[in-house]
Amino acid sequence: MRKLITLSILLLSFGMVSAVNAKTCELEIDSNDQMQFDKSEMTVAADCTEVKLTLTHSGTMAANVMGHNWVLTKTDDMQSVATAGMSTGLENDYMPEDLSKVIAHTEVIGGGESTSVTFDVSELSKDVHYSFFCSFPGHWGIMKGKFIIE
Ligand code: CU
Repeated sequence: MRKLITLSILLLSFGMVSAVNAKTCELEIDSNDQMQFDKSEMTVAADCTEVKLTLTHSGTMAANVMGHNWVLTKTDDMQSVATAGMSTGLENDYMPEDLSKVIAHTEVIGGGESTSVTFDVSELSKDVHYSFFCSFPGHWGIMKGKFIIE
């Protein structure tokens, strides 16, 4: 019985510690038929352990014509990931087969749709430059921005 009580106390303490340390921060970004995001910079507080990112598309054009996704990489990896994703098609959300350089990404959506992704940011550093972009072919040159850990 004593063992059981000790175990319960341990579990309870662990649960409390987890609850204190875990913080999910929510971010929203909109995209449109003019091939634009409504933000060129997104900031996450350093104490966020997880981000829930919601992407909306306020246009009306279909995903195969003006589809958008939201992809996060180190800024240094943006070009290679965007280039590798270009040829994989809408069915693969224009994401490269090798996702090792991708920190997070949503699916591609069309006008009137929305999607979200939740990902771990506890390993991201404020000393590293990160960028978000849309990997739909031809979009990332314009549809990109800085992702900053404060
Ligand atoms: Cu796009």
